[in-house]
Amino acid sequence: MLYHIVAMAKNRVIGKDNRLPWHFPEDLKHFKRRTTGQTVIMGRKTYDSIGKPLPNRENFVLTRNAEIATPPPGARNDVIAREQSDRSNLRFFNSIGDALGAFKTPDAYIIGGAQLFEQTMAMVDGIYLTRIDQDFEGDTHYPEIPEIFEEVEIERLQENPQIDVVYYERKPDDALKSSGEAGVKIND
Ligand SMILES: NC(=O)c1ccc[n+]([C@@H]2O[C@H](COP(=O)([O-])OP(=O)(O)OC[C@H]3O[C@@H](n4cnc5c(N)ncnc54)[C@H](OP(=O)(O)O)[C@@H]3O)[C@@H](O)[C@H]2O)c1
Repeated sequence: MLYHIVAMAKNRVIGKDNRLPWHFPEDLKHFKRRTTGQTVIMGRKTYDSIGKPLPNRENFVLTRNAEIATPPPGARNDVIAREQSDRSNLRFFNSIGDALGAFKTPDAYIIGGAQLFEQTMAMVDGIYLTRIDQDFEGDTHYPEIPEIFEEVEIERLQENPQIDVVYYERKPDDALKSSGEAGVKIND
């Protein structure tokens, strides 16, 4: 299964100056719990922001720079190959399709940033959305969630500010057909 996992402020902000604009340990624990043992897929800017592959997970990074797509093993002259030699859980891809075709874990989580979320919204089976009930200043926003998803579960993580995780699931194809939804309508 393929998911988004994202933390978003009340005003839909998810990032500022290539960083998270907040620090909420409860949310980081939730993120770790969910993604450990799975594959995390991220844009190059998010990878730069994290600075290293996340441990105990396969890390796939999207970049359009063909020179840093993961070279074949043993490509000795490649700077990135040498840099990656002790990072067996890190791979670079030039297309989302290639990355999605390559994960071997049961689940893969698209972990950001906005560019990746936008391009994969129509592809995921579910969305783990951490909602922070507070506005934050920022320059990166999570896209609107289309009506092909329905809210199925809410887990409270923290009281003040109120933080909860809403799990959205893609509606079954039959339900979409009978309601005439084509994936373009937006949830409120
Ligand atoms: N709140 C959260 O849950 C959360 C989670 C993650 C990130 N963030 C925040 O989001 C911000 C970063 O988001 P962003 O939208 O600016 O960047 P991003 O999505 O992390 O990365 C964008 C980069 O990914 C590569 N890319 C994008 N689409 C691609 C495609 N189809 N094929 C190949 N490569 C592709 C390109 O890399 P190249 O330029 O190398 O070609 C592009 O510049 C930061 O502020 C970060 O802290 C927040």
